[in-house]
Amino acid sequence: MTENLIIFNARLVTPVGFEARKGRDMGRLLMMDNATVEVTDGIITYVGPNRGEDRDGYWQGYWHYNARGRCVLPGFVDSHTHFVFGGERAEEFGWRLRGDSYMDIMRRGGGIASTVKATRASHFIQLRTHAEDFLKRMSRMGVTTVEGKSGYGLDLATELLQLKVMRSLNNDECKRVDIVPTFLGAHAVPEAYGGRTDAYVDFLIHEVMPVVKEQSLAEFCDVFCEEGVFSIVQSRRLLQAARMMGFGIKLHADEIVPLGGAELAAELEAVSADHLLHASDAGIRLMADRNVVATLLPLTAFALREPYAKGREMIDAGCAVALATDLNPGSCFSGSIPLTFALACIYMHLSVEEAITALTLNGAAALRRADRIGSIEVGKQGDMVVLDTDNYHFLTYYIGMNCVHATIKGGVIYPCD
Ligand code: NIG
Ligand code: FE
Repeated sequence: MTENLIIFNARLVTPVGFEARKGRDMGRLLMMDNATVEVTDGIITYVGPNRGEDRDGYWQGYWHYNARGRCVLPGFVDSHTHFVFGGERAEEFGWRLRGDSYMDIMRRGGGIASTVKATRASHFIQLRTHAEDFLKRMSRMGVTTVEGKSGYGLDLATELLQLKVMRSLNNDECKRVDIVPTFLGAHAVPEAYGGRTDAYVDFLIHEVMPVVKEQSLAEFCDVFCEEGVFSIVQSRRLLQAARMMGFGIKLHADEIVPLGGAELAAELEAVSADHLLHASDAGIRLMADRNVVATLLPLTAFALREPYAKGREMIDAGCAVALATDLNPGSCFSGSIPLTFALACIYMHLSVEEAITALTLNGAAALRRADRIGSIEVGKQGDMVVLDTDNYHFLTYYIGMNCVHATIKGGVIYPCD
């Protein structure tokens, strides 16, 4: 659904540009008081000062929205989530609180394998209903585009099922959030391939990815490149094959141990490398040189009691940093945008302005969509967030609290209270 809309009396706060902003440029935002944004057929057609009275009748055919001085920002882009899955893992969270590590639980057959079991046992409608509920919650926190990964099937049928759930949600006429699907068949090695990781990689390359591609079910291919899961050599092989098939490539890199994932992302010129808690300084410099977006997921570090990624150092090294939630049933059962903002600024030392760029334009770049979304500029989609305050610092200062008053998707306003 798209609409014609004129927002006036806005306090506009937006990064500017049609590609990722790197390094210090991340902190440069356009700010304008008494601003008007016009959206025609879902696309932004005017951004500038209020135009005064409607002398030439241009207001006709448009909805009018008086922002009353509230901050208006681009819609948030959550560029890394796993929001389609069956079951839950609350018990496992309890084990972690008592001292078990994420990898200990995974090694004894819990973790991702447990969600794989529950997802394989779920029907399409169950998965869709559950996922749709997450989308509603995201929209209320200002998210207008989300990336979602498969990876809880680890067999042909269930991987396709997860991706089809995303396609079905994306085809919904009244959707409030656009979905960008990623194939993550290389999320773990399924039981049937126990001890035969290379054979599983072959299976993905020859029997699953061609089908995913043929049915246009995913835009990106991702891999959990981690000690004891997929090695650097296996990840490289999988991602090179993915690129040959036309997928954009992403990595879960250096999440638990420093393995050289950041270096691999740079070598392959991946669109993004995500997590990066243990990325080396050399890897960070290489990512900056090769324009790999560093997608940081502070909620996961928080939930796993791990040290945060070096966000400040990455920006100072010239990287384009994006922020995302990593919503998933295991390592991080949270899609909280407010808490992501707070943790990024308090613990990773981003400025509020940098965090805004990281959750808008750079999130869009991590999904190869910086030409279409991520800023409030003529030619981009009419996706915006209206805060319930004229002070955008509330995004971090009001810790973990939602200060989104309305989310605007393609020129359609959805109130958040
Ligand atoms: O990004 N690390 C791999 N994947 C997810 C966790 C998935 C899960 O535990 O179910 C992550 O942390
Ligand atoms: Fe993840």
